[in-house]
Amino acid sequence: MLVTGASSGFGAETARQMADMGVNLLLGARREDRLEQVAAECIKRGATSANIRKLDVASTESVNAFADWAKATAGRVDVLVNNAGGAHGMEYVEDGQDEDWEAMFQANALGILRVTRAVLPLMKPHPGGIILNIGSVASRVAYEGGAAYCACKAAELSITKALRLELNGTGLRVGTIDPGMAETEFSLVRLKGDREKADAVYAGVEPLKAGDVAEAIVWAANRPAHVCIDEILMMCTAQATPYKLHRLKG
Ligand SMILES: NC(=O)c1ccc[n+]([C@@H]2O[C@H](COP(=O)([O-])OP(=O)(O)OC[C@H]3O[C@@H](n4cnc5c(N)ncnc54)[C@H](OP(=O)(O)O)[C@@H]3O)[C@@H](O)[C@H]2O)c1
Repeated sequence: MLVTGASSGFGAETARQMADMGVNLLLGARREDRLEQVAAECIKRGATSANIRKLDVASTESVNAFADWAKATAGRVDVLVNNAGGAHGMEYVEDGQDEDWEAMFQANALGILRVTRAVLPLMKPHPGGIILNIGSVASRVAYEGGAAYCACKAAELSITKALRLELNGTGLRVGTIDPGMAETEFSLVRLKGDREKADAVYAGVEPLKAGDVAEAIVWAANRPAHVCIDEILMMCTAQATPYKLHRLKG
């Protein structure tokens, strides 16, 4: 299994849960120290192997070098989890920052295209493999302050659908896992390290946890080869849609 964005949140937890099944793991992200910690935990939990390499999905050079390394290390990939990404900023469009928009499109949309292009040659000889892209409820519902992020995730959904058509007949499957609010480092990154504001996002709510989303990813990845889980949309019970959230007071 190859997981991008495996240094925290859903990616790290997916690696840990898959480790319980004794799989070979290829883990990528930009923070190598965090990847090392996750890989050590995976080995303790039973992974047959947990190899890591620095990966920036915003760079074609980095992605291609990662895929070359994956080929040399494992020879094949059966499960690709395109998870790397996140949001930067909450500004309305009139106040939006180029660097935030560019970072979001690079990681969430172009990153999936780049990684998939580079890794497909390691998957195509082995029918039954699966690509799981991590989208969001934001791919389906736009909200104020989320124009660029929602657009990136809408792109992810379209990429997923197009890939499923392109790969029809190869025996490879393509699905998207689309969570709502989940407590990871997501808000801390989006709010540029402001811990108080990030904690306030989850105040009075029991959000999804990384483990809840990883369970869905692991479940989808482990269906029999003739079963393709096209889409999973999941939210915490308190969230009916991105902007309709029931918060407990006090
Ligand atoms: N948490 C939520 O509420 C939520 C809801 C719906 C969807 N999502 C999506 O779920 C995915 C995982 O997010 P998360 O909630 O687990 O947040 P997270 O804890 O911040 O994890 C994001 C991961 O993506 C990696 N990443 C970001 N940019 C990257 C890049 N350019 N190259 C390589 N790796 C990169 C980060 O690693 P490095 O910083 O080490 O590179 C990190 O491992 C994202 O695509 C996010 O948009 C999150």
